[in-house]
Amino acid sequence: MVAEQSEAPRSRELTLIEADAFFYTVFEHLGYDFRHYTDASRNRRLMAFVNKHRFASISEAQGHVLRDPNLLADFLSTMTVNVTEMFRDPMVFSKIRSELLPRLATYPRIRIWVAGCATGEEAYSIAILLDEAGLLNRATIFATDIDNDSLRTATSAIYPADGMIQATRNYQASGGERPFSDWYIARYDRCILSPELRSRIEFFSHNLATDSTFGEFNLILCRNVFIYFEETLQRRVELMFRESLAPFGNLVIGPRERLTTDGRSWFTAVDRRLGIHVKGRS
Ligand SMILES: C[S@@+](CC[C@H](N)C(=O)[O-])C[C@H]1O[C@@H](n2cnc3c(N)ncnc32)[C@H](O)[C@@H]1O
Repeated sequence: MVAEQSEAPRSRELTLIEADAFFYTVFEHLGYDFRHYTDASRNRRLMAFVNKHRFASISEAQGHVLRDPNLLADFLSTMTVNVTEMFRDPMVFSKIRSELLPRLATYPRIRIWVAGCATGEEAYSIAILLDEAGLLNRATIFATDIDNDSLRTATSAIYPADGMIQATRNYQASGGERPFSDWYIARYDRCILSPELRSRIEFFSHNLATDSTFGEFNLILCRNVFIYFEETLQRRVELMFRESLAPFGNLVIGPRERLTTDGRSWFTAVDRRLGIHVKGRS
């Protein structure tokens, strides 16, 4: 009985050690850094991957992931949560429309970074706001993610038609007044977004944990990504955003996320409840 009781914690401990070793090796050999993601979600996802492929242990999975690119792609997809929708949290888009766009309109060129864009809906939502305001033709949206499967969907600009019902509701809740169908054509059970929106967005792979910035932006959205990061990793990313934003540029994080202590000294909350911040002059 005593032996049984001590067995479970010991195997849990072993699993944690194996998981740490796995993530360390994946980083060292493949450059994908999940070492500073929060333990609970990271390890749960790793175990789901191990069970899905019926590996006997994390260590066995490790060898296969290192050797097999298809398995690596599946591992990366399992590790990332790509839940998203158009005009998600409509009040955020309402505020961007009413308070951020008028300032963006004063610039000859507008550069926006949507970091952790998943399957692209957030980037297209921003493009729609810019189009409504007559700003789309001077804007470039850089939309990045670590997950190539998601980026493929984003790049295609084709989405299931049933998602457009919620998208339309969200758009209207954000204060949008045009027919939402202005921005897509329906083909059977799919909707193809307008080529004008698509042409203003550059989708590419970028890892917030390891890559550096790639320019200066007037607005950065990074929503529902920090929830998966430990504080050290979030701070790294906040610092990168601080360096990437033009003076008085805006940073938008998820409504359920909070900046780190350092982040709060680099950015001032415009609307904390909605996750909207502004960078100072430095
Ligand atoms: C829940 S989705 C958020 C999508 C969108 N921003 C939204 O709020 O609807 C989180 C996204 O972050 C991406 N992600 C996770 N870790 C990342 C990293 N290190 N670098 C870039 N993207 C990452 C995931 O692949 C996923 O697509």
